[in-house]
Amino acid sequence: MPLLAAANLHKTYSLGRVDVPVLRGVNVAVEAGEIVAILGQSGSGKSTLLHLLGGLDRQDAVGEDVGRCKHCGYDLAGLTTLRCPECSKEFFESAASKQGAIVFDNRRVDRFSPSQLDDFRRRDVGFVFQFYHLLPELSVLENVLIGAMVKAGVGYSANAASAKSRAMALLETVGLSHRLGHRPAELSGGERQRVAIARALINQPRVLLADEPTGNLDRETGAKILDMLMDLRREHKHTMLIVTHDEATAARADRVLRMVDGHIVG
Ligand SMILES: Nc1ncnc2c1ncn2[C@@H]1O[C@H](COP(=O)(O)OP(=O)(O)O)[C@@H](O)[C@H]1O
Ligand SMILES: [Mg+2]
Repeated sequence: MPLLAAANLHKTYSLGRVDVPVLRGVNVAVEAGEIVAILGQSGSGKSTLLHLLGGLDRQDAVGEDVGRCKHCGYDLAGLTTLRCPECSKEFFESAASKQGAIVFDNRRVDRFSPSQLDDFRRRDVGFVFQFYHLLPELSVLENVLIGAMVKAGVGYSANAASAKSRAMALLETVGLSHRLGHRPAELSGGERQRVAIARALINQPRVLLADEPTGNLDRETGAKILDMLMDLRREHKHTMLIVTHDEATAARADRVLRMVDGHIVG
């Protein structure tokens, strides 16, 4: 059973009167502990897919929800997994008439309420973006801590000490212990991305979603960031999905999938 999987995802953007279909029935599955790269050209829908998987955006409604297993007829209404529990075959066809599904750890993300989605984004998923998205007025340490504050909400003060020691440990892991009080503007691109990775990991998410994490870095710095992600996975068994338009970046993953014409292929 994959940790994170999606079946038959659709997303179309409307630009004025023109509809631009971006995802046309995407199927993807990531096993726990795996690093998967999704390789695709600019504009192919990689960020859109990552946003859906991480609960930052919703898929389009395209048809009726899955009813019965097409193999054995088991009633799948309300089911939370991608496989039929009766005959254990995958039950999604890529038929456009079926509503897509996103499953994380056996739960249907696409059916989450807004507050369940909030919890999912805070606890289960860590995001890394191409342009870091650090808050310029905060220090390195504060940028990493901000994720823990959001998670704990009003309970933050009770957990402040442990969050701070976790943030400092993460910043040591990414080699930035000597930069705790610096502002993002005082750091290089590679250092900023290392802060962003520490921030993404502060709540110990089960899966890291990285959107072109090396896209704004020179090749050597990008390779170091990838080395670091590999080391982190080795130590902490993180599951990672990395989207990129760069072949060399994708080649570092355990498995490479390609995004072509709104579908994911082999
Ligand atoms: N919010 C939006 N509104 C309209 N079009 C969008 C929006 N977001 C993305 N697009 C379009 O969808 C396509 C895929 O975008 P994106 O997922 O960002 O691709 P990628 O990350 O692979 O470069 C592009 O043509 C882009 O212009
Ligand atoms: Mg993108």
